[in-house]
Amino acid sequence: MTSHPSPSTIHVFGSLNMDLICRTPRLPQPGETILGTDFKTLPGGKGANQAVAAVRLGAAVAMVGRVGDDAFGQPLLGSLQTAGVNISGVEVDAEAPTGVAAIAVDDSGHNTIVVVPGANGRVSDADVDRLVARLLPGDSLLLQFEVPLPAVIAAANAAKAQGVTVIADPAPARADLPAEFFKAVDILTPNQVEASQMTGVDVSDIPSATKAARHLVQRGVAIAIVKLGNLGAVVATQDRSFHQPALPVKAVDTVAAGDAFNGGLAVALSEGMALEEAVQFASAVAAASVMVPGAQASMPERSRVAALLIGFKHL
Ligand code: RIB
Repeated sequence: MTSHPSPSTIHVFGSLNMDLICRTPRLPQPGETILGTDFKTLPGGKGANQAVAAVRLGAAVAMVGRVGDDAFGQPLLGSLQTAGVNISGVEVDAEAPTGVAAIAVDDSGHNTIVVVPGANGRVSDADVDRLVARLLPGDSLLLQFEVPLPAVIAAANAAKAQGVTVIADPAPARADLPAEFFKAVDILTPNQVEASQMTGVDVSDIPSATKAARHLVQRGVAIAIVKLGNLGAVVATQDRSFHQPALPVKAVDTVAAGDAFNGGLAVALSEGMALEEAVQFASAVAAASVMVPGAQASMPERSRVAALLIGFKHL
């Protein structure tokens, strides 16, 4: 990994979606209609969520991506700008609608998500060029898979070549990742489902997550972190592995918990925290986010994260 002189910028190359969120007592089965209890339209998208997570924690954050020239695009840009994210790298694309995500959240906070990429699906070389022009050695780059894979890989390669730390969230999962992707990524952070699909290991507990994380390291990433929700996270590097327990909180909405984790991880590492401390910090950011409904709306301020961490250390 690269060193992180301060101040550095956390760049986010990825998606912006409008989230169409239904609250329901339970998630529907295929073919079933059920009655929901609430509906909200809130800013989301894995990329934009990670940007808001990082900026709320005090980092300098810049976003590159695309929205449509429609009723959802401007509120998404407004949400990022209000949070303090530099949005000069986000294009308004007249050729496609803004991305949307249809989300169902049940009473235990679990969710299902269907994303229709819209303008996110048109991210390409021109967007990579805008990103590359902004990168400086020592910066960090947050990637996800809600924009086309060739652009993600080009961004990762360019960032790596410039001494930028690359943190990739392989969500939604893909089974067709080329070897060059793993070599360009410093830190890969799949959840349980994504880790299973990427490695063929049936990830169901800490030992199987450790096996999957080691497998990803063998494929070329420097650090693999498998996010396990209320089981915490498992971390593997070339020479060690460890488990970070989840912070015990009551979840009301787990949407974007993984985005909160990645934003927190990037901030912690850019501030020079050691890996163990950074993963614990990221876990606290994710824990704080699941206590509040919404994606960007749930990203915590630093003071909430600090309070959770103090409580955790006294357990
Ligand atoms: O990770 C949560 C996000 O996934 C939501 O905000 C939704 O937009 C989808 O991209």
